[in-house]
Parts: sequence; C-alpha cells; structure tokens
Amino acid sequence: MVDPTQAGVTPTCPACEAALTVRAEALHCPACEETVPVVDGIARFPVSVEQSAVPPVFDALASIYETPLWFPVVYRVIGGPHAPIDDRARIVDALDVTGGDVLDVACGTGRLTRVLAADAAAVWGIDVSMGMVRRARRDGRHNVVLAQMDAEDLRFEDGAFEGVACGWALHLFADIPTTVAEIHRVLAPDGRFAGTTLSADSLLALPAAQYGLAETIGAHVFDHEELRELLLETGFRTVQFERYGAALFFRATK
Ligand SMILES: C[S@@+](CC[C@H](N)C(=O)[O-])C[C@H]1O[C@@H](n2cnc3c(N)ncnc32)[C@H](O)[C@@H]1O
Ligand SMILES: [Zn+2]
Repeated sequence: MVDPTQAGVTPTCPACEAALTVRAEALHCPACEETVPVVDGIARFPVSVEQSAVPPVFDALASIYETPLWFPVVYRVIGGPHAPIDDRARIVDALDVTGGDVLDVACGTGRLTRVLAADAAAVWGIDVSMGMVRRARRDGRHNVVLAQMDAEDLRFEDGAFEGVACGWALHLFADIPTTVAEIHRVLAPDGRFAGTTLSADSLLALPAAQYGLAETIGAHVFDHEELRELLLETGFRTVQFERYGAALFFRATK
C-alpha cells in the first residue's frame, strides 16, 4: 500500500482544496491546518453520514461480497447467460490507460481495483463504506491507495486521472449528475470513464423491481438514452454502451 501522497495523484483538502501533505500518520493541509486521519492505511475524508442506507448495507455485505454467496450470483442474475465471464476485464479494456493514474469510484472490496492496478501506474480506490474499504485493504497491492470518500465530493485536483472506473455503483449515488460532473472534472483531457450499472431495458423495467431497488438501497435503474444524455451534457465527447440483460456496460471519453 502506498503513502497517499506518493501515489502520483495528490488528494486535496476537504476545507480549502489545497494539496494535502503527510504529517504524523495523517493528511495535513498546509494552507488551513485541516487534517484528514489515515487509520490502518485508509485515509478518511469526511462523508455525510445521514446520506442513505448505503454505508450500513455495504458494511454488512463486505465479508460475503466476493464469495459465491453474493457477487458471482448477483452478477449472473443481472447480466444473464451472455454477460462476459469477467465484467472487470471489459472495464479495464474500455479504460485503456496502461501506465496512467486511475481512480476506482465506489471500489467496494477492491474486486475491480486489484485488476486495474495490474496495468495502471497507481490506483486510488474510494468508497463510503469503511467495511468494504477495510476488506479491500486486506488484499492491498503496492500501487493502490484506499480512502473513505464520497463519490459526490472527490478530493482530487481537476484533470488528475487518465481513467476513472465505476463498477456497479452509478445507480447508487444520491445525486447522480453531481457525481458524474465530479468524475468528469477529475479526468484529464481525453481521459476515459468506464463501468457498469443497471439497465431499465430488461426485467428491471417492471415497476415492482424499480420500486424495490429504490426503496431498499435508493438505486436508480437507467434508461441508457438517459445515461447517454447525462454523460454528453456533462461534457463527455463519446459514449458507448453494451447491454446484457440488466447489466449496462458504459464507456465515455472526455
Ligand atoms: C455493488 S458495490 C460495487 C463495488 C465494486 N465497484 C465492484 O465492482 O464490485 C457498490 C459500492 O458503492 C459504494 N457507494 C455507494 N454510494 C457511494 C458514494 N456516494 N460514494 C462512494 N461510494 C459509494 C458502496 O459503499 C459499495 O461499496
Ligand atoms: Zn485546507
């Protein structure tokens, strides 16, 4: 696990946006004296606690998330028989940022982060759930930095990353347009954004399914034209989709 300030991309102060430096096991702002604690190698940026049921749900899922009790089964149910065997390889291909700095938004247990790290210079994995990030830390790679951070308030400078990945989480953000704008902001010119989310062009078109997802984890199911419009309006130049059942793979270029 790398020192959060030695990972190519330096995080910024939650209070004044100056670049942070490491001081006494914490991230410190030389401009305003704000401190971001680093606990067990995980930088803990402020996240709004009352935001949703998301952190407790994923804290509880962390220990089984990558086991046959969760992700492999849920992925096959969502994507159906024709979805790629490994969703991550598809996202890594779409990003195509060998040797660049990559941000994995909503990294969870680091399932995708670890694969991104094989090709990237360094990967920042951020997530609101400490349970998930702690799990990701157990499998740390030498070029991965982990932080508790809200996707809606990315603490990085404009244009900091060549690629941003977001696996199975875009539908979970309380304010999706703000999050997409943040992702666009931290991408370098020509940078790539790729990931997966839930498509309404599937069984999830059923109002009962959408109601259930919205009521339990606040999930939004996307019409892919709606997502295309949002990405283009935010400033992405090109947007492409591949859909398998309810699994929507997207890629966009800044
Ligand atoms: C289904 S998991 C996906 C994990 C991983 N990306 C993968 O592909 O397996 C969704 C993750 O989104 C995270 N999440 C939800 N809202 C978030 C937010 N506003 N900021 C950061 N992470 C968030 C959850 O805590 C959870 O770990
Ligand atoms: Zn500051």
